[in-house]
Amino acid sequence: MKIFENYSLLEHNSFRLNVKTRWFVEYESEDDLHKLLSDEYFFSQAFWHIGNGCNLLFLSDFNGVIVHSGIKGIEKISEDAEHVLLKVGAAEIMDDFIQYCVDKGWGGIENLSLIPSEVGASAIQNIGAYGVEAGDCIREVHAYEVKTGEKRIFSRAECEFSYRHTFFKKPEERGLYYITHVVYELSKQPLFKLDYGNLRKSLEGQELNLKHVREAVIAIRESKLPDPNVLGNAGSFFLNAYVCKAHFEALHQQYPGMPHFFEPEKTGDGKEIVKIPAAWLIDQCGFKGKTLGGAAVYDKNPLVLVNKNNATADDIVSLAKEIQATVNAKFGIELSPEVNYI
Ligand code: EPU
Repeated sequence: MKIFENYSLLEHNSFRLNVKTRWFVEYESEDDLHKLLSDEYFFSQAFWHIGNGCNLLFLSDFNGVIVHSGIKGIEKISEDAEHVLLKVGAAEIMDDFIQYCVDKGWGGIENLSLIPSEVGASAIQNIGAYGVEAGDCIREVHAYEVKTGEKRIFSRAECEFSYRHTFFKKPEERGLYYITHVVYELSKQPLFKLDYGNLRKSLEGQELNLKHVREAVIAIRESKLPDPNVLGNAGSFFLNAYVCKAHFEALHQQYPGMPHFFEPEKTGDGKEIVKIPAAWLIDQCGFKGKTLGGAAVYDKNPLVLVNKNNATADDIVSLAKEIQATVNAKFGIELSPEVNYI
């Protein structure tokens, strides 16, 4: 187990804010985690588990224990003619895991290429891109319950995967489970999903295989999203907006060019809901490139807030609030942050 006191989180948050934590603990095995969850001092402190910090915003220094998994490894647990089941350590870098699967010819997660996430966080956040969500391929999540130290295996159904949401993100469950491994099921006869945006078009003239899909996704992402090592950011800052059909129709009359996507599979209570890209709503309010203190709206993609010039968390939060208020006043839509405020 690695333990550091008064530790800088600069390398652990992709906004690259120079915040500190009183303690930083990285467990490297289930035994380590067991020890941590039996430690009285740990429970006397505030504590929070992070992944690689690419979807969070530290509002201030953390006066407690920031916990990180160091559990690595990819183990094949079963295989048949069509599928392979892999048990993957929570601290594996998701993109390395995707590269590993693509090299082996195993499909299912190639559309998630280049998402900056660790494997444990992929299951908590249900990361998604280009028509695929991690939950589509996750079969089990292995975790420890923090309060009791007991091991628990969650089936796919128990994870309750939906758009950027899972059981583990429910307000009443948040922070209560530490994930050690995620079991992914990959397909040996890949079914390509190319219908999102211009993915199919960008593959025109190329042989359709996992490697080419991965390369195309990476090229699209690199053209739309800033590299956190160059410009601090946490990807999409807000979730896309979902509105009921009546609200959509009223808006559509006023803004006939508004992009929209009917998603009947997401209909909860029998009413149709419509997805409206948050990027479009923010763009319409003229925010592209706008700065507030050291924070800015990325000029190529208004859904991304960036640390342009030594931003503070306050700069980023104030800019986000200004965007939310402006979008709400213009469209009657409340944008929710996708980024977790700590
Ligand atoms: N748009 C504008 N102006 C712009 C850019 C985009 O109006 O400057 C509009 C366009 O109409 C475009 C639409 O926004 O069609 C949607 O843009 P895009 O397809 O690039 O995707 P997104 O909805 O902005 C989502 C995810 C991304 C994911 C992409 C691809 C969310 C919150 N974001 O973005 O995820 O990579 O789709 O699947 O769902 C992330 O979560 O951090 C992330 C980057």
